[in-house]
Amino acid sequence: MKKLIFATNNKGKLKEMQLLLPSIEIISLNDINWTEEIDEPFDTFHENALIKAVTIFKATQLPVLSDDSGLCIHALHGAPGVHSAYYGGHPRADQKNINKVLEELNGVTQREAYFKAVLCLIWEDQVHYFEGVVDGHIADNPMGVDGFGYDPIFIPTGYKESFAQLPLAIKNTLSHRAQAVNKLLAFLKS
Ligand code: IMP
Repeated sequence: MKKLIFATNNKGKLKEMQLLLPSIEIISLNDINWTEEIDEPFDTFHENALIKAVTIFKATQLPVLSDDSGLCIHALHGAPGVHSAYYGGHPRADQKNINKVLEELNGVTQREAYFKAVLCLIWEDQVHYFEGVVDGHIADNPMGVDGFGYDPIFIPTGYKESFAQLPLAIKNTLSHRAQAVNKLLAFLKS
């Protein structure tokens, strides 16, 4: 496979995917002039990843990869989970999402969390899924300015820095998205 449409308008995800898949030309939704948000009405990452990939596949008939991902916090019974993007309300804003999580965890000492990513690939009329998870915990306060989404408050297990402080080259060896991409690459080689 030489070219792939990555079905996202999220610039952070796009940048990571371009670095994670250097051997494939990643075409963004912007490149195909697709500006609409694709609804994500479902309660599972798999279903939301599928609807994004199918919507773009129907419009283009080209190989499509989508990513549905989110932050799951044990003390919040898995929230924000599939609702990560709009947790702080509409319109979507990373800072509002972070503030809401930190308020809900105010005084909570059990701060374990994980990021999960489900990639959905539609290729040669077949649907394939690849999952990745990274464990960590939620910081008391935002740390760092790089990355996107909840990166400033997520500290991966084994590190003291948040994903927004660690270089992207490090995040890309650890992250939920990186682990899912490794499975995608193994599939493409097989
Ligand atoms: P969706 O997959 O478009 O529903 O959005 C996933 C949301 O989860 C993003 O908007 C971020 O808020 C959050 N998220 C997913 N992956 C990451 C990540 O690698 N870092 C920080 N936040 C993430």
